[in-house]
Amino acid sequence: MNNFVYNIPTKVYFGENQLSHLGEELSKFGTRVLMTYGGGSIKKNGLYDRIMEEMKKAGLEVFELSGIEPNPRIDSVRKGAQICKEHNIDVLLAVGGGSTIDATKIMAAAACVEHDAWDFMNEKKAPINKALPIVTILTLSATGSEMDTAAVISNPETDDKIGRLDPNLLPKVSFLDPSLTYSVSQYQTACGSVDIMSHIMEVYFNMNKDLFMLDAFMEGMLKTVVKFAPVAMETPDNYEARANLMWTSSWAINGFINGGRAKAWSCHPMEHQLSAYYDITHGLGLAILTPRWMEYCLDETNVSKYVQFAVNVFGVDANQDDMAIAKEGIQRLYDFFFKTLGLKSTLSELGIGREHFEDMAEKACGGAVLKGFKPLTKEDIVKIYEMCL
Ligand code: NZQ
Ligand code: ZN
Repeated sequence: MNNFVYNIPTKVYFGENQLSHLGEELSKFGTRVLMTYGGGSIKKNGLYDRIMEEMKKAGLEVFELSGIEPNPRIDSVRKGAQICKEHNIDVLLAVGGGSTIDATKIMAAAACVEHDAWDFMNEKKAPINKALPIVTILTLSATGSEMDTAAVISNPETDDKIGRLDPNLLPKVSFLDPSLTYSVSQYQTACGSVDIMSHIMEVYFNMNKDLFMLDAFMEGMLKTVVKFAPVAMETPDNYEARANLMWTSSWAINGFINGGRAKAWSCHPMEHQLSAYYDITHGLGLAILTPRWMEYCLDETNVSKYVQFAVNVFGVDANQDDMAIAKEGIQRLYDFFFKTLGLKSTLSELGIGREHFEDMAEKACGGAVLKGFKPLTKEDIVKIYEMCL
């Protein structure tokens, strides 16, 4: 295995009633806060009022930016960066799911220099040497943005959706209260759960040797999602289910499970093209792609990893030949995504045809080869998209 550095210093307040610490944490960074949020779920479920009360108690001066879209647009980021500059903002408070948090991260960087916000999606154009401090209140368990260095932003003018990683984007403090996710719809709960699983599987399906402990940890997290996603969908206010999903979402992508593995993801680059071109929910795109990608990549050289997945995550009977076990594992994943979680299973059902597959595949592999679990050329990626029709 390779050496590695693990350094994720986000302070997490986990559990109910932790928002009483919000004022004290924000005040550490200054008095002028820009609070960002999405399309209004936080007003419907009462969270907005609770947060405002805490900030008022702490004597903070609050500015707001609402309306951050799912698959957040670069224009929202530009607006936020402008507000930060105009009002000399000290700290950003992102309240929402991955979209709000991601948009806020790039605002925090763009607020500090005179670059167009979109430049930050290309590390060669705009290095991120500093960013305003970010505090988050997570309302949807999915992306792990609350505890990672990534932000993914869409530009509808160019049909691009691009991710940027930088340690300066890591939230300083995140509030993770599982009860804030009680109001998440069944559909978003399902999509978020797929996203969590995908973050783990992108690392798990890797032929680099690493610690046995990390594989076991990943299998435990995958089993956690398989167990609790249906419970949360059936009983939205089940605290245990929501808490298990929430903490798994953070640990799936905060860097811990990588160990010394080469970081090379496959389904995410392919999915980001789907949501860039068709504005679909990220987790739904991943659900449709992942089992097909597994089928496409399976061969005699990598079957052992599939066997491990099938037996340890889905409890497939190990007394069969390896290929049979591997295929049964893939089938169990299909069944979980499309029967248990009830997600649509094909691109055709979403009204997506093959017209942009070539361009999407070109972007997914960056014009070269997507160096994931199995290297994928543009032609391979087109075939995987076709399997999803
Ligand atoms: O906008 P509001 O009204 O708040 O409604 C949102 C939105 O419509 C709703 N929602 C969120 N919390 C809720 C709630 N509804 C009721 N009750 C609550 N408590 O859910 C909808 C989706 O929200 P969004 O933030 O878009 O979802 P998610 O957290 O799945 O974020 C998806 C975005 O994150 C990116 C994705 O590509 C996508 O753009 N990702 C970010 C990553 C990262 N930063 O590390 C990694 C991921 O792989 C992913 O790419
Ligand atoms: Zn994801």
